[in-house]
Amino acid sequence: LTTQVAIIGGGPSGLLLSQLLNSAGVETVILERSTREHVLSRIRAGILEWGTVELLREAGVGARMDGEGIPHDGCYMTDDELMVHIDFKELTGKRVMVYGQTEVTRDLYQAQDAAGTTVLHGVSDVEIHDLDQTKSYVEFTHEGARKRLECLYVAGCDGFHGVSRKTIPAEKRREFERVYPFGWLGILSETPPVNDELIYSNSRHGFALASMRNANLVRYYVQVPLSDTVEDWSDQRFWDAFSRRIPSEAAAHLVTGPSIEKSIAPLRSFVSEPLRWGNLFLVGDSAHIVPPTGAKGLNLAASDVYYLYSALIDAVKGAGTTGIDAYSTRALARIWKAMRFSWQMTTMMHRFDGEDAFAEQMRKATLAHLATSEAARRDLAENYIGLPF
Ligand code: FAD
Ligand code: DHB
Repeated sequence: LTTQVAIIGGGPSGLLLSQLLNSAGVETVILERSTREHVLSRIRAGILEWGTVELLREAGVGARMDGEGIPHDGCYMTDDELMVHIDFKELTGKRVMVYGQTEVTRDLYQAQDAAGTTVLHGVSDVEIHDLDQTKSYVEFTHEGARKRLECLYVAGCDGFHGVSRKTIPAEKRREFERVYPFGWLGILSETPPVNDELIYSNSRHGFALASMRNANLVRYYVQVPLSDTVEDWSDQRFWDAFSRRIPSEAAAHLVTGPSIEKSIAPLRSFVSEPLRWGNLFLVGDSAHIVPPTGAKGLNLAASDVYYLYSALIDAVKGAGTTGIDAYSTRALARIWKAMRFSWQMTTMMHRFDGEDAFAEQMRKATLAHLATSEAARRDLAENYIGLPF
């Protein structure tokens, strides 16, 4: 097998990069470990920054998103009964889009099928070779046979647990990490949203987030100890905790029902620098993880793709390597700002086990400041809707 850009990982990063490269006539092959059904069953992000929306349109996958996605002009940040409205539209002139990662991924798979791109599923034991040579190659096992894919460049889009980052020698990498002492338990339920905008709730009982996918499908989360498992959380226990953690004004409108999905995600901040080693470029979760509190994970993957795709087009077509040479620096500048925002949102909205009374007052004061300062709300809104690419 031969291609121009080998893409490891068929999640949102790999698919979007491939789609944009193919649109410009650059050939790709995607190697994905799981089945397509498995990739599409993972419930993850729900909020798209407008830059992500525009990039998906540019990639030719905007039609269903524009029809079924729900633009949101604001959200609420709360402290017990205090509800602070963040009006994105008024503060920044921009909005975000409610459209799930599963839908984005489904649209991208459909577009890649239509483009005739080779997407191999069930691929294992991926090894990336000759990254310091003019041409590189990837070896992998597929349908019981060891295969070889020759390429000019490799895009490492294989998430946090993938092989791409680990292919870079440890002494060439610098890693930064913060692990938070709690996780998020998330449920999907076919019920109407408790509020027409998202509610990020800080409460004496811990954090909760009220999000949605559509008019009859909600995605709600509660902060849980890392030692908890999904089995510890019956639907009833979830609804009791969730309704206690959102302001009573909102809880009065809560409609409960059976959960159709329930999962726990740990919270972590992580960056591996640089994003390039020879012909290998790391994109999305393979290089960085944010805690979900700022809704930045998927959006950062999209901005990495934005910086990389035109650079790779130039490099493949012989129009110079300035773009790929600058990729790591350009992408990291934006990544670190999103890291800061996600860390700050996480710190502001969660109860930390064993925290002292001072820490709690700092959280309360941050929310109180947000309630009374338009400048503070604008700063939050500017980051939430997404910093410019
Ligand atoms: P991924 O989506 O991880 O895709 C990587 C792909 O590579 C996967 O399909 C994987 O199967 C494949 N792969 C892995 N290893 C290999 C290998 N060795 N060979 C071949 N293929 C391989 N973000 C938010 O904004 N909001 C959220 O609520 C939110 N919730 C999340 C919940 C969980 C449990 C997780 C893990 C992430 C969540 N995120 C959330 C983050 C967001 O989903 C990610 O930032 C986004 O999926 C990144 O896309 P990606 O394509 O870079 O990586
Ligand atoms: C969702 C997840 C987030 O982490 C977030 O900040 C907002 C929304 C969601 O799954 O809908």
